[in-house]
Amino acid sequence: MRLVLLGPPGAGKGTQASAIVKKYNIPHISTGDIFRANIKEGTELGKKAKEYMDKGLLVPDDVVVSIVKDRLTKEDCKEGFLLDGFPRTVNQADALDKELSQMGIKLDKVVNIDADKEILIARAIGRRICRECGATYHIKFNPSKVENVCDIEGGQLFQRDDDKEETVAKRIEVYLKETQPLIDYYKEKGLILNVDGTKPINEIFEEIVKALGR
Ligand code: AP5
Ligand code: ZN
Repeated sequence: MRLVLLGPPGAGKGTQASAIVKKYNIPHISTGDIFRANIKEGTELGKKAKEYMDKGLLVPDDVVVSIVKDRLTKEDCKEGFLLDGFPRTVNQADALDKELSQMGIKLDKVVNIDADKEILIARAIGRRICRECGATYHIKFNPSKVENVCDIEGGQLFQRDDDKEETVAKRIEVYLKETQPLIDYYKEKGLILNVDGTKPINEIFEEIVKALGR
């Protein structure tokens, strides 16, 4: 299964991605996670990405595209993959198209998760992430059993630097301008699966699985 997850910040891409990759046994390729891991390790890529991420802006296309191209040629992508947060511009989508056709493969579906701006902001602001395993929670909508402690192995929960209200608003603005056009881009290719991101987490997952096949 070769999938792309599309949607604005806070729509629930990462949340659904975790369940989808488990179900279909494919690697989860999140460009946001790759950048955050590089920031944590203090790499040159991390330093460059942070400049843009902290302002709610997109990291330049050439940087992102070369990372994804590289990742897609790895052995574990042979049977499929889930791209989460990539592509995010028409430029990136064209580059992906070119790369996949060179590899002689095609996307199976582009899952588009959407929700209203008020919901997106509330979700991003209340999001908490585990420092140890990366599990995602929400202080109201999906709380951990013990406040600020991960249910899985007891890791500490933290808030992302770009989840401050002004930065989230900027990210949504950038999404509307740069990324939303990709819905029509993939609709024309007959690949879009629209999912209502305002439903409960498990209902959305069921809907996706129903459409993709068990
Ligand atoms: P990235 O990490 O991709 O962030 P994003 O796209 O802004 O998406 P989020 O992670 O904010 O949200 P999500 O949709 O995954 O929601 P989640 O499941 O966590 O990118 C970060 C930055 O990196 C970008 O701004 C950019 O600078 C850079 N970048 C990354 N990729 C790039 C690219 N291709 N090109 C250029 N730059 C790039 O859910 C949110 C919260 O809601 C959680 O707390 C969750 O528990 C809760 N929740 C989820 N679903 C539900 C539900 N159904 N009901 C109730 N609560 C829910
Ligand atoms: Zn954890």
